[in-house]
Amino acid sequence: MTTLTTESTAVTGAVGTARTRVEGLAKVTGAARYAGEIPYAELAHGWLVLSTIARGRIRSVDAAPVQEMPGVLAVLHHGNAPRVDADYVGMLGKPDPTLAVFQHDRVPSVGWPVALVVAETSEQAREAAEALVVHYDEDPHDVAFFAGCPGAYTPENPPGLATEQGDLEAGLAASAVVVDAEYTTPEEHHSSMEPHAATARWEGGRLEVVDSNQGSMWVAQELASLFSLDPASVRVRSEHVGGAFGSKGVRAHQVSAVMAATVLQRPVRVVLTRRQMFSLVGYRSPTAQRIRLGADADGRLRALDHQALNLTSTVHEFVETSAAMARVMYDADAHHTVHRVVALDVPTPTWMRAPGEAPGSFALESALDELAEKAGVDPIALRARNEPRVGPVSGLPFSSRNVLACFQEGARRFGWADRDPRPRLRRDGRWLLGTGTAAATYSSGVAPSTAAATAEPDGTFTVRITAADVGTGARTALALVAADALGVAPDRIRMKIADSDFGPAMVAGGSMGTRSWAWAVSLAARGLREQLALGGTIPPQGITVRSDTTEAVGALAQQERHSFGAQFAEVAVDVATGEVRVRRMLGIFAAGTIVNPLTARSQLIGGMTWGLSMALHEEAIRDQTSGAHVGPDLAGYHFAANADVPLIEADWVDDPDDDDPVGIKGIGEIGIVGAAAAVANAVWHATGVRHRDLPIRPDRVI
Ligand code: MOS
Repeated sequence: MTTLTTESTAVTGAVGTARTRVEGLAKVTGAARYAGEIPYAELAHGWLVLSTIARGRIRSVDAAPVQEMPGVLAVLHHGNAPRVDADYVGMLGKPDPTLAVFQHDRVPSVGWPVALVVAETSEQAREAAEALVVHYDEDPHDVAFFAGCPGAYTPENPPGLATEQGDLEAGLAASAVVVDAEYTTPEEHHSSMEPHAATARWEGGRLEVVDSNQGSMWVAQELASLFSLDPASVRVRSEHVGGAFGSKGVRAHQVSAVMAATVLQRPVRVVLTRRQMFSLVGYRSPTAQRIRLGADADGRLRALDHQALNLTSTVHEFVETSAAMARVMYDADAHHTVHRVVALDVPTPTWMRAPGEAPGSFALESALDELAEKAGVDPIALRARNEPRVGPVSGLPFSSRNVLACFQEGARRFGWADRDPRPRLRRDGRWLLGTGTAAATYSSGVAPSTAAATAEPDGTFTVRITAADVGTGARTALALVAADALGVAPDRIRMKIADSDFGPAMVAGGSMGTRSWAWAVSLAARGLREQLALGGTIPPQGITVRSDTTEAVGALAQQERHSFGAQFAEVAVDVATGEVRVRRMLGIFAAGTIVNPLTARSQLIGGMTWGLSMALHEEAIRDQTSGAHVGPDLAGYHFAANADVPLIEADWVDDPDDDDPVGIKGIGEIGIVGAAAAVANAVWHATGVRHRDLPIRPDRVI
């Protein structure tokens, strides 16, 4: 037993220093096990069978021949699967009928799960699943999404999807300069390196799921509700996650794995293939957006109108809040935003990195660039001219707003001052060259979380929190936060995360994870430090202090809390082939306290790379006749590869947020925001042609 006092452990300053990931060695040596790799005795393997029609009913499932195939243990479908509570209300406040798999014979889209074949090996399950014959009664379907498509409406929930201030038409009529433009972004897909996987088993009367998710407590609560179980009897763990980006919540693979484990009373694993991910894990809806800007001759906005349309499925309403950014970025006497959705016979879209702001910033920040061109005002000066004092729609004060500092620092480092604003002037052989810029913002929320900090008898500390490290480095960041709060070196902290038994905590989402968890971790760690300061010995079981931020979060002042940023890009456009090459990108961000510069930079560069990819490559095409994707795999769905990605630099400015108890703002989303617009604006500067439809493919450039 050791005696610990704060005097003997007074080391601080871990937050803000670059640290490699605490689990880095385990990951690069293969010792870190992912959800699809963990061995179990008696493990059975499930393979999902997905519908081949876009709308209709299942007439019959010919299970009998498949049941005779080698190793096959069960074929679950709507005729025999365990029932779930389809009216359950999950953590997000409304039921998601997408999770009611095998509960009815209706097929609402191509790729709807219609059966799970379970066998002794994964190969046997796959062979049998591919041999399973399902007969359908097919109905006509509609998967056509386009600007002005019929049936669009503004949902009532969540409230506030439309905002109106001032007389828009009068503002536009009185403006010296007007931009009225339509922008589209295509259907974009989640391509996390690790496909979704879950193993479910019953162990000592409890349901245990080992998963790849963004929030083990979230998944546990949803499964408990869905299967009408006592929440205390469900345990979900998700130690290592190979990317998530909004797609790793509760999906058909966990639900069907639980069903099969219940029926067979043995562990069952369901892993999704890359192709299945295109149907089962959600995606970014295509958008059609119209932006109208009216300004005085000097660029001051009189009128701003952002209208956004996205698609959703017929079973669940999902809104891509593309017009949300306009409510934060720019003031105008008349300020209108509206979101509409149209329900089609497609899988339900979901969150994908910077949901709303990613497509919204392409439209808004392209339109600002068009306005700068028309008004003859430098794009950065135009943004400075339209800086709001308070939230343009909310009227609330900003906790901090350092977007202009980002532009200043970015302009200095990028060499913006020498830029000739006229397009199509610069050449490098057959390449036309141009530069562009765009603003970025993402909200910085926080949600209640709990944590526990334990002083161990050997002088180390264990911190437990149901956080998820989806590849961001959250585990390491929290170790730094705990080290500072305890006043000890980070290598004495053991982080235990991603286990629903650790209690409620925010998910890794909405750029809110690290901010929410850090608050709970530092609260518990500070409490423990105070207790240790009283002296005494540490018993064998250690000394544990728990925290819960529910009250503190509830008491936060109402403010606009956001990260901000400025994106810069230089492109070269081949006039013969239409190929666009990005030559360099620079992003400068204001995102509060940066906990770990090493992993933060990597997060931001990852987001910017995705923005480049969004600008030039990514696009899922749906065949109108079948309702299915053309080429749903990484051969048919292009994203930026190493050779497409040039020098990308990300850095930040000081962004103190003194009133805030955490000071962290979150950096998960903001790297992608504005990045595609900066590239598109650079393509205009190079060629003199506006590209309002993504991606900027060679055939569109020529
Ligand atoms: Mo993020 S799209 O909230 O996982």
